[in-house]
Amino acid sequence: VTSTTTKVESTPVLAPAGLEGVVVADTSIGDVRGLEGFYHYRQYSAVELAAERSFADVVDLLFTGQLPTKTNEGTELIPRALPTGLAAILPQIARTGTPLEVLRSAVSLLGGELEWRPILDISADELLREARELCSFVPTVLSAVDRLRRGLTPIEPRDDLGFAENYLWMLHGKTPDATIARAVEQYLMLVIDHGFNASTFTARVIASTGADVAACICGAVGAMSGPLHGGAPSRALDMLDEIGDPSRTATFVRELVGAGDRVMGFGHRVYKTDDPRSRFLRDLAARLDAPLLGFATDVERTVEATLAELKPGRELHANVEFYAGVVMDACGISRDMFTPTFATGRVVGWCAHVMEQADHNRLIRPSARYIGATAPQPVPAR
Ligand code: ACO
Repeated sequence: VTSTTTKVESTPVLAPAGLEGVVVADTSIGDVRGLEGFYHYRQYSAVELAAERSFADVVDLLFTGQLPTKTNEGTELIPRALPTGLAAILPQIARTGTPLEVLRSAVSLLGGELEWRPILDISADELLREARELCSFVPTVLSAVDRLRRGLTPIEPRDDLGFAENYLWMLHGKTPDATIARAVEQYLMLVIDHGFNASTFTARVIASTGADVAACICGAVGAMSGPLHGGAPSRALDMLDEIGDPSRTATFVRELVGAGDRVMGFGHRVYKTDDPRSRFLRDLAARLDAPLLGFATDVERTVEATLAELKPGRELHANVEFYAGVVMDACGISRDMFTPTFATGRVVGWCAHVMEQADHNRLIRPSARYIGATAPQPVPAR
């Protein structure tokens, strides 16, 4: 008896557009519970960490799994002075794009200058060292870029200042007020990690190829620059400007949504209730007596009510970006530095995910369903 075996392609499973609800990895770094309005880093409420701890402590938690204690002080993360090659190139590239675009280029240059090697070829300890290095260069790069764009000379970090204090010092050239520095530090802690958002997923996809950590973070920065992800806080303040007076809010929202556009700083893929980050930032804005808070709160109330009417059942609330702009504005950070400041915190989460991916790696390589014309067709003559 002869038998012939025909190879049959297995039927591909089609994931929903935007991979909504699809679990693509295991992680111990943190989780977002959208219906509860809760998120955590390695089992500790991120909001509680932001209220109680320092940025350096939370970085240690993300990178090593341990929160520093009295007896185990952990490793302090402070901004570092730029290596000479990048410091020399930065004045030439500072105006080649937005500060976030320049950061993307600078991270790429850093990887080359510091000879960061493919993750596939290095140990976990070496990757941890490179990740710490990378995170400590980001505020130095961004503050230098901001100053160069304003025609000012970059300022080096100081040994006696913490992470957020140093960032503000390097941006503005004066020792920051303690309340402002703590507000920026709390903001940075709040945005370190947030589930499998687009930029984190991007970083993990690149890490899964075994590329170096700079490549992972360049990709993540690119993903974050999109207005549907990290590019919204300055747009949220632009929107407040455009609204001009709270009494115009409902009309503004109706016109915007009628034209098929979105209200920036509202809605979230996972949160279907208040975003805990926006609640924290609203309170923080109140403690800072933020100039835009009253206006923003009025606008928030009306936007939520109008969206509930126009998009019933979608549960569209203010997200992290809405009050982030209000807080950063109160801290003297300029609008084009809002998303870069977000990246200064989130780079820690990206690096933690890169390390986790490297720790039990398998190349991420999904498939696409082909929906074009039937193949094969004869190739037509020219
Ligand atoms: N304004 C108006 N309508 C909205 C908004 C919004 N901000 N957000 C969602 N909707 C509507 C959609 O039009 C859609 O309506 P439909 O069902 O009639 O088609 C419905 O709500 C569901 O929207 P989706 O697009 O399925 O929601 P998704 O999960 O893809 O969107 C997103 C999440 C991208 C954040 C969206 O809410 C949005 O575009 N918001 C504005 C941009 C923004 O604030 N980005 C920052 C996000 S936070 C962060 O990444 C750190």
